[in-house]
Amino acid sequence: MRIVVLVSGAGSNLQAVIDAVQSGDLPVEIAAVGADRPGTLGLERSAAAGLETFVVNFRDYATRADWDAALLTAVAAYEPDYVVSSGFMRIVAPGFIDAFPGRYVNTHPALLPSFPGAHGVRDALAYGVKVTGCTVHFADAGVDTGPIIAQAPVAVLDDDTEDTLHERIKVAERALLIEVLGKLAAGSVL
Ligand code: GAR
Repeated sequence: MRIVVLVSGAGSNLQAVIDAVQSGDLPVEIAAVGADRPGTLGLERSAAAGLETFVVNFRDYATRADWDAALLTAVAAYEPDYVVSSGFMRIVAPGFIDAFPGRYVNTHPALLPSFPGAHGVRDALAYGVKVTGCTVHFADAGVDTGPIIAQAPVAVLDDDTEDTLHERIKVAERALLIEVLGKLAAGSVL
């Protein structure tokens, strides 16, 4: 199973996938890692792991449609079986979803459909939920919407900050993402 992973930031979930692949625990080939901006830790981690990387810098395109087309061309060139949005903080165009039907997987740090968006951890904390968690789902062209593949709960502690809660969620999220990718590779996700 060939995957292209898309990242915008630190790429700690990506690092967990890289580690699982390199240790032989995950029968997946990371064909490339793509980003919407240069100079991120996620790209650094990928280069350090010897992976191919590419940047489709949002700022380099005059229109949103131009960027959408460039992203699709860049990703499609690797002929991935699945595209994984791992902290990729951009909504892709409907044309991207059409190009990879049921093959665009996103991970989100909340129990969707609650708390979608860029601040899922902060929003859950602000609401005062006692349990939140993470979701891995097939993404559509909405904001963190699309059929759910797997979820894991994480308890909110009284003294949690956004950072402490996000760190615990990410521990669960990494394990969940690797589990889901393993199942996709085995063909056991319906
Ligand atoms: C992850 O928690 C991911 O779920 C979240 O960004 C973080 C990226 O961390 N994505 C979203 O909030 C998407 N709505 P990482 O770059 O360290 O893997």
